[in-house]
Amino acid sequence: MNRSLDHTTSLRIAIQKSGRLTDKTIDLLHGIGIEFDNYKRNLMVKTRNFDVELLLLRDDDIPEYVQDGVCDLGFVGANEVFEKNTQVTVLRGLNYGNCRLAVASPKDSALVNPSDFEGKKIATSYPYLTKRFFENQGISIEMVEISGAVEITPQLHVADAISDLVSTGGTLKANGLIERFTLLESETKLIQTQQALSEGKQQLIQKFLQRIDGYQTAKKSRYILMNAPLDSVETIKALLPSMKSPTIMPLAETEMVAIHSVIPFDQFWDVMEQLQDAGASDIVMLPIESMIA
Ligand code: PRP
Ligand code: ZN
Repeated sequence: MNRSLDHTTSLRIAIQKSGRLTDKTIDLLHGIGIEFDNYKRNLMVKTRNFDVELLLLRDDDIPEYVQDGVCDLGFVGANEVFEKNTQVTVLRGLNYGNCRLAVASPKDSALVNPSDFEGKKIATSYPYLTKRFFENQGISIEMVEISGAVEITPQLHVADAISDLVSTGGTLKANGLIERFTLLESETKLIQTQQALSEGKQQLIQKFLQRIDGYQTAKKSRYILMNAPLDSVETIKALLPSMKSPTIMPLAETEMVAIHSVIPFDQFWDVMEQLQDAGASDIVMLPIESMIA
């Protein structure tokens, strides 16, 4: 394949320059074999081994850049995708950068349930989602649109409450605010432009998605190895929560075998105890870098 960065084939991908999504997005890109450096200093980074260039942007700007086709793909929080109400295609939910858009009010406040907010002032950087939520409930609020440091507004009597992103809850706590209810659950999404793409770009996107899926599956799976007496193999096979049949190899020691399998990580600890009860020993669990079906 021609590696020159010609615009008809080279994919342009938007990622957050610095913020909650940056490190994990960079890890994911490196994890699927895309090599690049100097992303901290540059706004545009060419990758060394894939026809991809990365554009480092403010997360708020990413949905529009992708909508308009300036970037073909983008990694951005669902909060920004839905707030900007952009016409983009969500290709994948990536289960990192999780947070929620929630309404919070001062801890001694009587504003607790949505209906308490009738006629009250809510400060937010998410006017679209906030307005839509209260409108859907038939509650009219007064919106105070603010681009940053929203959490300080109740103390300044600029607003009665706020609607803002919450991740750990540290920011709310530090400002004497209590989270009351959630408007939107958010995670990182991989989005694609709805503008027409060349055949070359479409093929690259398919390749990119296959690698991401392999990386995601691998992250959720573990390679498990154990030794077991030959007569416990059937019991152990039945216990292993694997789609595929395990690999079974004889050991030099007679009457014993080694069993290898891939299992979902979230089931490892439950299964491990049952395997021990069934006679398995020397159980080893290993991470997997990538898995391609
Ligand atoms: C959000 C939000 C809070 C903080 C909450 O900002 O505005 O300041 O995160 O996180 P916590 O619950 O873990 O304390 P974000 O990082 O999205 O920055 P941005 O709005 O400038 O993109
Ligand atoms: Zn932002």
